[in-house]
Amino acid sequence: MTQTVPDDTGLLEQAAARVDAAVAAANKLEPTAQTVATELKHAIEAFHKLALNTIVRRLKQDPHGKAILFELVEDPAVYALLLMHGIVRADPVTRARRVLDNARPYMQSHGGDAELVDVRDGVAYVRLHGSCNGCSLSAFTLRKHVEEALLREVPEMTRLEVVTDQATPAILRAEAQEMPAVEKGWVRGPAVTEVPPGQMVSITTERGSVLIVNFANRLSAYRNACAHQGRPLNDGILDPITGTLTCRWHGFCFDLQSGECLTAPQAQLEPFPLRVVDGIIWVRPQ
Ligand code: FES
Repeated sequence: MTQTVPDDTGLLEQAAARVDAAVAAANKLEPTAQTVATELKHAIEAFHKLALNTIVRRLKQDPHGKAILFELVEDPAVYALLLMHGIVRADPVTRARRVLDNARPYMQSHGGDAELVDVRDGVAYVRLHGSCNGCSLSAFTLRKHVEEALLREVPEMTRLEVVTDQATPAILRAEAQEMPAVEKGWVRGPAVTEVPPGQMVSITTERGSVLIVNFANRLSAYRNACAHQGRPLNDGILDPITGTLTCRWHGFCFDLQSGECLTAPQAQLEPFPLRVVDGIIWVRPQ
């Protein structure tokens, strides 16, 4: 018997909006009432955190409980709650962006700036601007500041690579020695020019919908189905800076190059072979 998982997205949004509205209203209270409201909020949060920590600790002690916990973390409301209390951590890309945001005032006060271009295999690729660029002592100091903050706050990252201001496009995947044959399951897709960098298109095939994405001139094809609940991803949010695609339904975030889910590490998009022949994209859905 199959069981339908209830879609609580609307309820989650309503609950979040209710909290936001209450916080905004509390901020408008006169100072004494505002202090009381803030203390009440902090007291309730501390109480919840204490109880949640106990629940998570106990679940982790039991293999079955651990499995349930991993399942629960995939629920967006549970994930948001645990994230809010610091019991789970945001994905490395989100944390890396936060580190750069925090370092930005310092960099800008020295005439520099930095942006996250990509995160791959534990390496953060960062493009530097202004006084962060070059080989002066101040550029070296600013780079060191960014690197130390990144490696400290995002221990999954082992190295920072500086990308030059003039990005050089990567070569498109072009395994064109052998013509993709329809009888071998290849499906003709759009022209390369129809999928410019930072864009994605979905095509319908006999084996279902296929998503073709172009991140920094690297093309990839995936089944157009989120690894969470199989919803289509073609209306997701593609971030050309971090090379991630975020599902609109419950916010699962995927690395565009590997298909790896950054929200729930055990989840993964299903990749398909892709070729470019004479400017035309071919995919082979399984
Ligand atoms: S279907 Fe739930 S996050 Fe995509």
